[in-house]
Amino acid sequence: MDSILVTGNGPLNGQIPIAGAKNACLTLMPATLLSEEPLTLTNAPRLSDIKTMTALLQSLGAEVSSLQDGQVIAMSSHNLTSQTADYDIVRKMRASNLVLGPLLARFGQAVVSLPGGCAIGARPMDLHMEGLEALGAEIELKDGYLHARAPGGLKGAVHEMRFASVGATENIVMAATLAKGTTVLKNAAREPEIVDLVECLRKMGAQISGEGSSTIEIHGVDRLHGATHQVVTDRIELGTYMLAPAICGGEVELLGGRMSLVDSFAAKLDAAGVSVTETQNGLKVARKNGRVQAVDVVTEPFPGFPTDLQAQMMALMCTAEGVSVLEERIFENRFMHAPELVRMGANIEVHGGTATVTGVETLKGARVMATDLRASVSLILAGLAAEGETTVSRVYHLDRGYEHVVRKLEGVGAKIERIKGE
Ligand code: UD1
Repeated sequence: MDSILVTGNGPLNGQIPIAGAKNACLTLMPATLLSEEPLTLTNAPRLSDIKTMTALLQSLGAEVSSLQDGQVIAMSSHNLTSQTADYDIVRKMRASNLVLGPLLARFGQAVVSLPGGCAIGARPMDLHMEGLEALGAEIELKDGYLHARAPGGLKGAVHEMRFASVGATENIVMAATLAKGTTVLKNAAREPEIVDLVECLRKMGAQISGEGSSTIEIHGVDRLHGATHQVVTDRIELGTYMLAPAICGGEVELLGGRMSLVDSFAAKLDAAGVSVTETQNGLKVARKNGRVQAVDVVTEPFPGFPTDLQAQMMALMCTAEGVSVLEERIFENRFMHAPELVRMGANIEVHGGTATVTGVETLKGARVMATDLRASVSLILAGLAAEGETTVSRVYHLDRGYEHVVRKLEGVGAKIERIKGE
């Protein structure tokens, strides 16, 4: 297995291009199942999760081609042959569950294995099921698979989610596009990836309003047609690389970045003493004077502080001046990076969903292990700021969500290389 070797070597300067959003692409790809006509995505990120979704769609009979070095994904669901998402693919990635709503809407039936993905908590599917059941689906759990049917077709309904789940919102919105009548989804998730999905569905002929607010209204139509859509910028990759100059010092411009994607995160950086400004081409992040200040963080659904940036923010707080409290409210088991950061000399105490980080002056390089996608990149960030060498193993997690991480960080002066394993 490959590992990443990082050597801390001071301030970073230059530009980093930000890719299209993994999480948007993973919900836009299943949207192809809603229509017989082709759907083409541009600005797609080159990631192993995208390959997994490609394999899943192909296993259903969809045609999926990767063009322009993977940045364009051309799909057609003209001749689908299966409505079953098999365990062997779904276990690799939780987002596989996003084929459930589209398959059910188009064919009145779907069989989807319960998902896998990062080991960051139980992550059940009850909210997806409740929403689809409100639209008239009958769903049974048998042998680890959800068997969903809607014999008379789905029907629009008013449904309030108990929690604003991102995936459940996406599944319910996609299903409702082809349901009879109007669906009003209350307490919907407001993430930019959902706005992006709705913009694409609208290009396909769906009638939807309210995306980005907590009430989304969908008027069902008989059929959707083809479209071409550009995937929104990845706000988590953006936030991750915003932390590189914050943690090492220097000034880096994140090309394609927008403040509206990272408002709550940028506000925390500002409070910590890191400047974030909008430029013509993106966002510029600079830390010039001394250590950052400790700030407290509570993860929340968008527009709150994203759980997907909590591990990386913890890496920054490890060398901040003062004590910071990070509270994880979205996932119950998302501090696996903490003991690894402690191996690098960090002072972190975890109690339940709260981590208390007392900043130290410097971290020390060590051999550490990636446990999930965001944890792995937090260890790389910590390594950039540490004295000496840090080796991060199990980087297959990293490949799920960050394209060309070595090239992008080298481009701003980091000393980082990928070591091929056996
Ligand atoms: C998506 C993102 C993920 C991000 C998360 C929260 C994708 C592919 N992944 O994941 O990177 O960390 O949003 O911003 O977009 N839950 C239930 N029942 C359900 C569904 C969810 O209890 O039916 C719980 C989960 O266990 C979790 C919380 O709700 O504790 C948030 O999950 P959700 O918003 O659904 O996240 P995902 O869509 O899985």
